Amino acid sequence: MAKKIALVNMKGGVGKSTLTAQLAYEYAILSKWSKKVLVIDLDPQFNLSQYLLGAQLYDSEILKKDFPTVWTVFEQHTHMPGSHAPAQLDPHSVVYHAKKYSGGSLIDLIPSRLELAFSLRNPAQKEDLLARLIPSIEDGYDIILIDCPPTESLLTTAAYLASDYLLVPVKPEYLSSIGLPLLNNSLNEFRSRYGSKKPVVAGVVFNFDSDYAPEERKSKGEVSAVCSNFGWYLFKNPIPYSKSFPKSAREGSALRWTTHSRYETVTKFTKVADELAGLVGI
Ligand SMILES: Nc1ncnc2c1ncn2[C@@H]1O[C@H](COP(=O)(O)OP(=O)(O)OP(=O)(O)O)[C@@H](O)[C@H]1O
Ligand SMILES: [Mg+2]
Repeated sequence: MAKKIALVNMKGGVGKSTLTAQLAYEYAILSKWSKKVLVIDLDPQFNLSQYLLGAQLYDSEILKKDFPTVWTVFEQHTHMPGSHAPAQLDPHSVVYHAKKYSGGSLIDLIPSRLELAFSLRNPAQKEDLLARLIPSIEDGYDIILIDCPPTESLLTTAAYLASDYLLVPVKPEYLSSIGLPLLNNSLNEFRSRYGSKKPVVAGVVFNFDSDYAPEERKSKGEVSAVCSNFGWYLFKNPIPYSKSFPKSAREGSALRWTTHSRYETVTKFTKVADELAGLVGI
C-alpha cells in the first residue's frame, strides 16, 4: 500500500505546495528511492499543479482540454440541471501523467482548478469521496502526497480521511506557531467524529530557515514548545531559505535541476526527505 502523507498547516504561505512538489521530485528522481509518486492538489488555487506542470502546460493540458481534476472527484455525484444522471467516474481518468524517469519512477498528478471552491459551498457528503477513490488507483504508487489549502474546510477533512501521516511545514518567524493549535483542534475534532487514529503527525519541519538570530531562534523556541506540548516530532533538519525554490516552481523542475541552484541547498533538502522517509518508512 502507498504511504499517504498530507502537507498541512492552517497558516498560509509556509511552503506546503513547494514541499509537496520537491519531495515528490526527491523520491522519484534519487536512485536510492526511485519511487512512483502520486501528488494530489487539494487547493482551489491550484499552485501545486502549476509548480509541477508550469503555468503554460497547466493551461493547455488541464484547463483547455478540460482534463478531469479533483473537483470532478468531489462533484462526481452532482446532478447538473438538464443533464442525465452522472456517469460513474473512472478513477484513473483524473490522473495526469506529469513526469517519467528512467528506471520506471514517475510523478503523477491529480490536478486542481479554481472551480473546486464551488464544492465548498455545498460540502454535504463529499468529504470521503477522495478517500474512496484512492484504493482503486493506489496500487500503482509507493507514495501519495496531498497538498492542502491553508483554511479548514471539507478539503481538510477529505485530506485527513485519505492520509496516514501529516507533514507540517512552519516558518520560523513571529506568530509562526499560530497555526499549530488550530491544527491540533482540527485533528482532535476529526478523530472524535470519525473514531480514527489516523492520520498521525509525522512531524513539524522548519521551512525558510536562515538562522537569522535572534528573532528566528525565538520563534523556533516557541514552535518547539508547542510541539512538545502536543507530542509532535520536530524535524532535526530545517529547509533553508533559498530563491531556488520559487525559481524551481517557475521552471517547473526539481530543485536539483533548477538553474543555479546551490549544492548546499539541494543537500539540505535531501536530508529533510531522508528524515521524513525514516519517520514514515519509505
Ligand atoms: N525554502 C524556501 N525559500 C524561499 N522561498 C520559498 C521556500 N519555500 C517556499 N518558498 C516560496 O514561498 C511562497 C509560498 O510557498 P507555497 O506556495 O509553497 O506555500 P503554501 O503553504 O503552499 O501557501 P498556501 O497556504 O497559500 O497554499 C512561494 O512563492 C514559494 O516559492
Ligand atoms: Mg499551497
